[in-house]
Amino acid sequence: MTVARTTAVPTTAGPRTRGARPRRPGREEHQRPDEVAPAPQDVRPGPDSPFIAPETASPDAILLRRTMAEVEPISDKVTSYFYALLFVQHPELRPLFPAAMDAQRDRLFKAILTAARLIDDLDILTEFLSRLGRGHRKYGTQPEHYPAVGECLIGALTRYAVTTWSDEAEAAWVRAYTQISQIMIDSAAEDELIAPAWWQAEVVGHELRTHDIAVITVRPDQPYPFLAGQYTSLETPWWPRVWRHYSFASAPRPDGLLSFHVKAVPAGWVSSALVHRARPGDVIRLGPPPVP
Ligand SMILES: Cc1cc2nc3c(=O)[nH]c(=O)nc-3n(C[C@H](O)[C@H](O)[C@H](O)COP(=O)(O)OP(=O)(O)OC[C@H]3O[C@@H](n4cnc5c(N)ncnc54)[C@H](O)[C@@H]3O)c2cc1C
Ligand code: HEM
Repeated sequence: MTVARTTAVPTTAGPRTRGARPRRPGREEHQRPDEVAPAPQDVRPGPDSPFIAPETASPDAILLRRTMAEVEPISDKVTSYFYALLFVQHPELRPLFPAAMDAQRDRLFKAILTAARLIDDLDILTEFLSRLGRGHRKYGTQPEHYPAVGECLIGALTRYAVTTWSDEAEAAWVRAYTQISQIMIDSAAEDELIAPAWWQAEVVGHELRTHDIAVITVRPDQPYPFLAGQYTSLETPWWPRVWRHYSFASAPRPDGLLSFHVKAVPAGWVSSALVHRARPGDVIRLGPPPVP
């Protein structure tokens, strides 16, 4: 299995100067490109999306959209091929991912498509990707990992976008991926200055309310900022690198403790572990607090 033009996605230089806004890369950047919580379901427009009106779409957006129209109906195959390429060609990245790649594995690929769709809307693009880049710190993602993902993205598109792929389409994807990944890298770098990549939290209370619902209370190792009604991501020690979202069951408390109401879904990895296995003294990890 080979990637057709692996040189298309070059190496990354790391974070930009802080505060610098990503700009639309030009041709020279195509030759030297540097390099999100769930993908924003509410900004996942279809091919006729108002986000990119045909009459105002940039030439790159039009090329990207053509590729997406071809690969989206077969996104399962493209995703499988993308991960196969990634793990065969970059085995050093495999340990960052869960041991068993579950049904949620398509989120990375879908988020790249969502971002590509927003390529002409820099404000929404930046908001979406900044959150995603910040959230990637808990996975251990580093700036130098981005070219590998980009290379495999281009490899998968080359293989499956057979009728719409061209040198121009590839150049547009490289420019888009360069811009997408640079926003993520920059936001992670900014976040690194002010927050940990994750919080450790000790289970201090576990109350079974029904046979499959538990109220779990944890004490974070440092203050965890959030607002009532928000949710976080968490990882249990029993399913390393498997992160799931849970809503805070109360407003912030003076003692800093956090509670979650968890329902064990049938055969659910994380929820079953939290309801049936977690006990006081166990330590879980929390992802970054939500952005208000
Ligand atoms: C923003 C947000 C907030 C959330 N807040 C909470 C919360 O406060 N409390 C809570 O208990 N959960 C909450 N969830 C759901 C939680 O994130 C997990 O999806 C859920 O606990 C299942 O994870 P799992 O690893 O146990 O199951 P998985 O291993 O992901 O799934 C195992 C099997 O169960 C199926 N499955 C997954 N979810 C359900 C379901 N809800 N009902 C039936 N079958 C299902 C899957 O399709 C799969 O076949 C929230 C989700 C989101 C997106
Ligand atoms: C432009 C580039 C990328 C985009 C748009 C992207 C997007 C996503 C999305 C949407 C998720 C789902 C979970 C979440 O929202 O956090 C995810 C998960 C993940 N990403 Fe990325 N990602 C990118 C690059 C990378 C890179 C370079 C790495 C490092 C190798 C990486 C590693 C991971 C890991 C380990 C997960 C968890 C997988 C899982 O839970 O199954 N991502 N990514």
